Formats: sequence, C-alpha cells, structure tokens
Amino acid sequence: MTPVEQTAVHPAVIEPDAAAGANGSRFIRACLRLPVDRTPVWFLRQAGRYMPEYMAVRRHHSLLDICRTPEIAAEVTITAAERLGVDAAIIFADLLLPFTPMGLDFEFVADEGPRVHAPIRTAEQVRALRTDRTDELLYVSRAIEKVAAHFAGPRADGDQLGIIGFCGAPFTLASYMIEGGSSRNYVETKRMMYGDGAAWGILMEKLVAVLSEYAAQQVEAGADCIQVFDSWVGALSVADYREYVLGPTTELIGRIRGLGVPVIYFGVDTASLLPAMRETGADVLGLDWRVPLDQAWRSLDHAVAVQGNLDPITLFAPEVVLHARVDEVLNAAAGRPGHIFNLGHGIVPGTPVEAVLQVVEQIKRRSL
Ligand code: CP3
Repeated sequence: MTPVEQTAVHPAVIEPDAAAGANGSRFIRACLRLPVDRTPVWFLRQAGRYMPEYMAVRRHHSLLDICRTPEIAAEVTITAAERLGVDAAIIFADLLLPFTPMGLDFEFVADEGPRVHAPIRTAEQVRALRTDRTDELLYVSRAIEKVAAHFAGPRADGDQLGIIGFCGAPFTLASYMIEGGSSRNYVETKRMMYGDGAAWGILMEKLVAVLSEYAAQQVEAGADCIQVFDSWVGALSVADYREYVLGPTTELIGRIRGLGVPVIYFGVDTASLLPAMRETGADVLGLDWRVPLDQAWRSLDHAVAVQGNLDPITLFAPEVVLHARVDEVLNAAAGRPGHIFNLGHGIVPGTPVEAVLQVVEQIKRRSL
C-alpha cells in the first residue's frame, strides 16, 4: 500500500479552506476557484510524439510497455512537465488500460489507433465483463508514487506541481469497447444505447465500478486531481446525454470527489452539452476551442472552474498569431478565479516544442 508519507506530501484537497494554506498549489487553487498569483497552465498530451524526449523512449518501448512499466511511465511524465515548465503533470497512461482487467484484449496499431479484438455487441458480452480485477492496474499507481516523490518539494517559484491522475468516462470508454476503435458515427454504440437498455445499463454500471476503484488507487498513490476524459461525448444530443449518460457519469464523478480531490471533466464539441455536464458535480469543465471561453463560462453561470481552450493547431501558426490567440483566451477568462490554461484538445504530432514553450512563457509573463 501507499506509504503514509506520500499521502502527507500531496494532501487530498477539496475544502476551499484546506487549499488556502501553504499546500494549495496554484493549479489546485484554480480547480477550486480560489484566487491565484497567475493562471496555471498545462497541456493535454503534453508527453507525446511531438516531443523528441518521448520519441527517444518510444524507439525502444511500445506504448503499452511504457504505460505498464512504472519507472518509464514516471520518467516520461516528469520529463515532459519539467521540459515545458508547466504547473501540473498528467500521469502517462492510456484511456484503454482498464479494458485488460475487464477481459477485453486490445492493441495499438500504428497510424490507426486502438483496436479491440472482440468488440462488445451483445448483452452476453456485457455480462461477461469482469469488475473484480482492478488491482491489475496498480502499475499506474506505482508510477504516480514515483512522480509524487519526485515533485514532493516546492519548485523554484515556491509553488507545488499538481499531479493529475485520469480515467475515461463511461460513454467514451463504452464507445471504444463497442466500436472496437475510433469511430465517426458511433452507430454500434448508439444501437446498443437505444436498443438494449438493459445491456447499456449494466455496461455503464460495470464501467463506473471499475473506473471509480481505479481513480481511488491513483488518489491513494498521490494524484491530487483526477481528469475524467469524455472525449467523444459531443456525438450526443443534449436529450440523449441526459437520458443515457448523465446518471452514470454523475455517479462516477461523485465517487471520485468523495475521495477528497477535485475532478476535471473534459469533452470535445460540447458547447451545447456544458450546462448538463455541469450537473455531474465536476469542479472543472474542459472546454474545446470551438466555443469562446467567456461565452461557455457564462453558460455555466461561472459556477464551476474551466480549463482551456486554445486550438492545438494554432501552435503551428506564426508567432504573432499564436501570441494573439493566447491573449484572447486570457482576456476571455478576464482574471476571474477558476481558469486553468490548456488546449481545447491534445497536442498533435509535429507540433513545434518551441511554440509550446512560447505559450508557457507568455502566460508566466502576464500577471493577473
Ligand atoms: O501526456 C499526456 O497527455 C498523458 C498521456 C495520454 C495518452 N493517452 C498516451 C498516448 C493520455 C492522457 C491519453 C488519454 C487517451 N487515450 C484519450 C483521451 C484524450 C483525448 O485525446 O481525448 C484517448 C481518446 C485515448 C485513446 C487513444 N490512445 C487513441 C485514440 C490513440 C491513438 C491516437 C494517436 O494519437 O495516435 C492512443 C495512443 C496514445 N496514447 C499515444 C499517446 C502518447 C500516441 C501513440 C504512441 O505513442 O504510439
């Protein structure tokens, strides 16, 4: 089990009063909508193929080897956070890792993405999914312990680095299980959702059981925040989101918040879903770049924190354009407590590292 010291170094913070003390990093304070000295910043997929340091490791190890070897996963996580000088480190792992202990084999195919060998299409297959082997995911927690130990002390500016654990949301993970990989129209996912309510309900329950236990392992290991990725939830109408997804997602987020850490709930193409997503009780909502940040935040009555929302492809734009776009995001946030700067989705391969560094510098220069 986790050594007691580890938990003490990264206290689980959710009460605003607790975060107001010396241990409240600017990242966690922003999650809780408390005032900060400057806007915290980190990047979705900050450890990835755009980064030469990651590719050097990747040459010798498969993606799954990296995820399953705590020493390497921790090294990749730490290297990216330190190289960029960001305020939070997200543990290097993948959304699909819980499939293995649930009894679903998959692989990552070069240039294609994940492929599940026997996609879930029937109620029998749903019933056969295992929920009793989540301990097999403890390698992720071992990596988090190493990252937490590395970042135990304050950095040069006196702030403590935030350590983000993560898991998928029920809808997005169900979509990979059912489609067998990435999808454009989610035909099979929606076929089960609309056509076999009993199977869909059991699938949601099983995912919530496994994901909440997996998140609890990560918090015990030292994660001081959990991001729940619902990357593809934008494929749903508001009515379908409410009918089929809001309940189990609220249950998952409620259980994670019950562990004493803030939850960031992230999706793409969610402008119309945001008010319903807020009902999950998440502390922070991730915004993609299609919606102006100020407009999105208003639609949420400023009652939650927001994370985002630079278009990741502006990192390929000329310096003046990139600079202007970053300023636009900061201006839209207007110094209101509860903004975490990030991209609207992950950094893509080929992104110049220099551009990412330039964004970090710009945010650090611009005090509130
Ligand atoms: O630094 C970080 O952001 C942490 C690492 C991380 C990975 N996957 C490693 C990875 C995170 C947070 C994820 C989450 C994840 N995995 C998501 C949600 C995030 C999002 O983009 O919305 C999703 C949808 C997955 C599933 C997944 N993994 C896909 C669809 C792919 C293939 C697409 C691609 O970019 O190639 C992966 C592979 C993957 N996971 C890579 C990395 C760094 C790239 C492949 C590689 O290194 O070989």
